[in-house]
Amino acid sequence: MCGIIGFTGTQDALPVLLDGLTKLEYRGYDSAGVAVQVCDGIRMIKSSGQIRCLRKKIAESGMLPGCSGIGHTRWATHGAPTDTNAHPHMSNNGKFAVVHNGIIENYIELREELTAKGYVFSSETDTEVIVHLLDMYYSGDCKKAVMKAAARLQGSYALGVICADFPGSVFAVKQESPLIIGVGAGENYFASDVTALADHTKNLIYLEDGEFAELTPVKAAVFDCTGAEIAKPITRIVWDVGASQKSGYDHFMLKEIYEQPRALKAAIEPRVKNNRITFDGFDMTNEEARKISKIIVTACGSAYYAGCVGRYAIEELCGVPVEMDYASELRYRSPIVDENTLLIVISQSGETADSIAAVKELKRRGVRVLAIVNVVASTIANLADNVIYTWAGPEIAVATTKGYTTQVAALTMFALWFSEKLGRISESRYDALVKELLLLPGLAQRAIDLNPHIQDLALRYHNNSSIFFIGRNIDCAVCLEGSLKLKEISYIHSEAYAAGELKHGTIALIEPGRLVVALCCHTALFDKMMSNIREVKARGAEVLGVALEGDRRILMEADDVIYVPKADPLLGAIPRIIPLQLFAYYVAKCNGCDIDKPKNLAKSVTVE
Ligand code: AGP
Repeated sequence: MCGIIGFTGTQDALPVLLDGLTKLEYRGYDSAGVAVQVCDGIRMIKSSGQIRCLRKKIAESGMLPGCSGIGHTRWATHGAPTDTNAHPHMSNNGKFAVVHNGIIENYIELREELTAKGYVFSSETDTEVIVHLLDMYYSGDCKKAVMKAAARLQGSYALGVICADFPGSVFAVKQESPLIIGVGAGENYFASDVTALADHTKNLIYLEDGEFAELTPVKAAVFDCTGAEIAKPITRIVWDVGASQKSGYDHFMLKEIYEQPRALKAAIEPRVKNNRITFDGFDMTNEEARKISKIIVTACGSAYYAGCVGRYAIEELCGVPVEMDYASELRYRSPIVDENTLLIVISQSGETADSIAAVKELKRRGVRVLAIVNVVASTIANLADNVIYTWAGPEIAVATTKGYTTQVAALTMFALWFSEKLGRISESRYDALVKELLLLPGLAQRAIDLNPHIQDLALRYHNNSSIFFIGRNIDCAVCLEGSLKLKEISYIHSEAYAAGELKHGTIALIEPGRLVVALCCHTALFDKMMSNIREVKARGAEVLGVALEGDRRILMEADDVIYVPKADPLLGAIPRIIPLQLFAYYVAKCNGCDIDKPKNLAKSVTVE
């Protein structure tokens, strides 16, 4: 989704802005632009396409000399990804320039009002109303104009504003879209996320909704919505310096697949103390735990699929019913909840608009919220009553890998911890599961070691136009994620089905040569899977079986086999998904796809 950056200091702003935009590329975008305060006003250059197109345009039209400015990568929502619709947007008199991430819901009324007042619109965006509002409310005090314009906006927005009358000042406003301030020595920044700033400063200020900031080279002043200055803590972040580099890997996705053993170690080991699961800063009395009569798990995309895996562990170990809800749907139905409901929201970024909205809605109804989140101090982490961080480290590739597996690990640890609170688990089962949890990083590594075999399979199957994934129980949940991975980066049509459900309609799509990936790792359901494999083979499908190491029965039916390391049935999703991540990666690579930045997708989906 859109990324914004702002800078003010004593060095040239342009390289900082372009570097920041490059770091924000991973969020997904289709046009980009910058505006710099130059000696006689504001100069702006923008371009559809990638940042290299913007760089080319800047090089052709001469540099933009100036020490403060704003930049933007746009993921089109209102209007096509054209040069004109790209941000920044400028007021008719050239006094203001604005960048925006989010959606202005009342832009049609505002556009009509501003047009009636004589403002001329040049783009189809919702954003352009903001810059004309600024101009309308401006009478020499930029801070006041920012406040007044923001007060008229409905929706979600992170804004960056510069005004020709205030050289050296950049303004940033936050309302339901991610925005952080970076505090440097003699220079200050704002950005959509830390990736854009980490090379410049580790000192951050997290803005709350409704707050705004005026940055000059020497001060980062933060105000509440009434304009009163407020003292904000500066947080020093720890940032893995290699996070924003590919470190020799062809793609961030591959690097992040390989980082999974380390990420799982970071997610699991600190939580196991004296053989007991504990979560820092999050506890519940046994009595509180026993009052919870229902758990709703909500999330989007892969995070939702991680929830689908976790559900098995929670229901089996805790005996508490779990409802799964897409966050984009949860807020628009009437879930039956009360003070004994626990909402678990899962999000890598912590900034997904649908998940944020679902959390707000259920909080409004008095539900306690536990967030499983990767990005520290993100919106969802701040909104939730309790947080379990997944500690996966920064994830840059749009297709999540270590984000997903650490979510699954965190959910399983929660299930184990909760089952103990409820007194539902035997000491021996608890000990065995803790032991198995600690083995997961090693199992993940063994799954990664299957890489050469997976490359061969990708070479063999990459030309298929449609690939099906079938499985039962947890394998079925793993199929959902395996299929999503494949389609989002390789653009190959794919569907995931509960193996027993296929014959109720979808089997009509199975024809000679169609690839079916069949997960057969659930020992108790192995024979059922064999029957399902026979059904698709009878219709000409080729079958790539995924089975537990040493299980030779699969060779009777499958054309090819991936043998995955054995694990406890509740933890098996992690070693099983990794070969499917690699399969998606190499299929996409064989097909020449832009793996880290798949078309139409964004890393963090900050609009509804
Ligand atoms: C996963 O590969 C996707 N890119 C996407 O489904 C993602 O998991 C989803 O948008 C949720 O994101 P979040 O975890 O940051 O909330």
